Amino acid sequence: MKNKKSNIVCIIQARLNSKRLPEKVLMDIDGKTCIERVIERIKKSKLIDEIWLATSYLNIDRRLKKICDFKKIHYFQGSVSNVLSRFYKISKITNPSYIVRITADCPLIDWRIIDEMIKEIKIKKYDYFSNTIERTFPDGLDVEIFSAVTLKKTYYNAKHPFLKEHVTPYMHGKVSKSIRVGSFNVHQFLYKKDYSSYRITLDRKEDLLLIREIYSQLNDFCSWKEVVKLMQKKPYLKKINNHIKLNEGSRIDMRSIKKNKSFKKSNFLFRKAIKIIPTASQTFSKSYLQWPLNVSPLFLKRGKGCYIVDVDDNKYIDYLLALMPIIIGYANKEVDQAVYRQARQGNILSLSHPKEIELSEKLIKMIPYAEMVKFSKNGSDVLSAAVRLARASTNRDLIAVSGYHGWHDWYIGSTTRNLGIPKAVSKLTKKFIFNDLNSLEEVLGKNAEKFAAIVLEPDTFDKPDITFLKEVRKICDKYGIVLIFDEIICGFRTKLGGAAKKYKIWPDLGCFGKAMANGYPLAALVGKKKLMKKLGDVFISGTFAGELLSIEACLKTIEILERENVIEKLEKLGGFLKEELNKQLKQQNLLDEIVFEGNNWWPRLNIKKTKIDKNIYSSLFRQELISSGLFLGASLNLCLSHNNENIKRDTIRRFKLAIDSFNYIKSSKNPKKYLKGNMIESVFKVR
Ligand SMILES: Cc1ncc(COP(=O)(O)O)c(C=O)c1O
Repeated sequence: MKNKKSNIVCIIQARLNSKRLPEKVLMDIDGKTCIERVIERIKKSKLIDEIWLATSYLNIDRRLKKICDFKKIHYFQGSVSNVLSRFYKISKITNPSYIVRITADCPLIDWRIIDEMIKEIKIKKYDYFSNTIERTFPDGLDVEIFSAVTLKKTYYNAKHPFLKEHVTPYMHGKVSKSIRVGSFNVHQFLYKKDYSSYRITLDRKEDLLLIREIYSQLNDFCSWKEVVKLMQKKPYLKKINNHIKLNEGSRIDMRSIKKNKSFKKSNFLFRKAIKIIPTASQTFSKSYLQWPLNVSPLFLKRGKGCYIVDVDDNKYIDYLLALMPIIIGYANKEVDQAVYRQARQGNILSLSHPKEIELSEKLIKMIPYAEMVKFSKNGSDVLSAAVRLARASTNRDLIAVSGYHGWHDWYIGSTTRNLGIPKAVSKLTKKFIFNDLNSLEEVLGKNAEKFAAIVLEPDTFDKPDITFLKEVRKICDKYGIVLIFDEIICGFRTKLGGAAKKYKIWPDLGCFGKAMANGYPLAALVGKKKLMKKLGDVFISGTFAGELLSIEACLKTIEILERENVIEKLEKLGGFLKEELNKQLKQQNLLDEIVFEGNNWWPRLNIKKTKIDKNIYSSLFRQELISSGLFLGASLNLCLSHNNENIKRDTIRRFKLAIDSFNYIKSSKNPKKYLKGNMIESVFKVR
């Protein structure tokens, strides 16, 4: 430790009346008290000029003075509840540039981290810098550094008692929304790997056991990396205190994400909407039946990248992505600028526009069996068009389907949501199971020659069995059935050109939509000329089918998908998240009940067997995900903006928080009482 100008002052915050483990900082760790260990390790710093211990006026805390004298560090007593004022008063005495805040319950604190952080804050001149908000280091290595100016502003402006007690929330701002905080240049010190599941802080008896064990096996000044290595080598060590909830000792961290979210405005808007909009939503899967009141927000006000913000200002990492049309990210600048350029020329005109040819040519180049193209607005439209075309060209009525194909009569009549569809129509569509040839053969039976089309999603949650797809193609050829691939979801996610191109099995017609224009409404029917040219007689027509903003958006989206290798990146990302999130589930012994599985480009969240009622289980799970800031339904819907190191780390951390509290709730006597709203209504299962 240098001892010249007091440029960097380290303040160790300590007290003896800790509730969970009274007088913990005086507890013996291999021959020395915890606080001595902390002081000795901080003294190793090459960049700290002075060390102070800040405690309260309480008599009990006077006992710490002796240790400070013995260790030759400064001692300060101040307000019991306004800890912030202790810091400010020390800074008035010492007049430093930066203050390092350490708490006395970290006997394995590592000066190497402190020095690295000091170096960085001096260069980058952050107002506040810590490793405690976005956690990557083990719990117990907490370092916060802030400038004297930041401290002064905080001291004069932080009004709420919580801010005074906890010193730094006013600076980093991670507190409940009702508390006013400052506006500072805040930065996080992150390690390249996530070790936040390690706990080496002293808060409970079990922590003490672990720390004693570590000190008995390593030298007094071991580095944090040696500690982690030891714990990895000897997994029993981690088990000593593993059951203690992460960050239990530092509740502020929890608060940073797991805010008790208010849905006040959402609920208000819902009450208004339900009177004038059936189900208060335009889309079944976005309605309160799937996102119940008080469990979830119901109205969002904006999206950017992979984030969404609800009308109550809660922010989430979004893994729903508006049901998959977003593939690059919300409000993508490049796509939007292309759209604005077109908007200035008119978004729809009285005759066709050359851009329709340009995009058709692009799609024909990308999709091997596409010889002609017809646009529309929704997936349902182009599926209906394909079916009508198949019926017209075969002069047959029956259709065989597997998967979901939109809301129009010909398909939805075959599901349980078939109200209002004439029985005569429903009877014409027969369902078979994907990847199951027997089931298809059973459906076709002796009537194969009466079927106009077989419609299937060639790639969904589950990987297709290539032999199955080949057999389906053969059956279609044998009986003159039109093979229609519904590529609405997989078309722009498995490969540019669709799943047919990936697996080299060519349908007669293909339907594309969703992600093709990164959120702008566009769908396309493509296929062989001999069929498609019949659309001159088979009547398919829509006022908005040639709308130009979406066509522009699609051209730009394809350009970005090609340039950025988006599909490959998302496939990799899905595999990574699937593995990491399953690891978390395994750590919590939940893997038998919940698992991410299936294709990497679209990992499905499968809730398998549950001891409690499945609907309660799923609803509670969704509730905890949302309150941890993850908007996630039955699958991980991915876009390019998710493919970012911070987002990945944050997703894992939020997921960890969610399953931590979910596990606690579901193991309680009456889990249902923790459900803050209604249950999710189960969707009709089609895949
Ligand atoms: C595979 C598939 N096909 C068709 C559709 C219908 O598309 P849209 O909702 O755009 O009409 C969907 C919608 O989710 C879908 O997932």
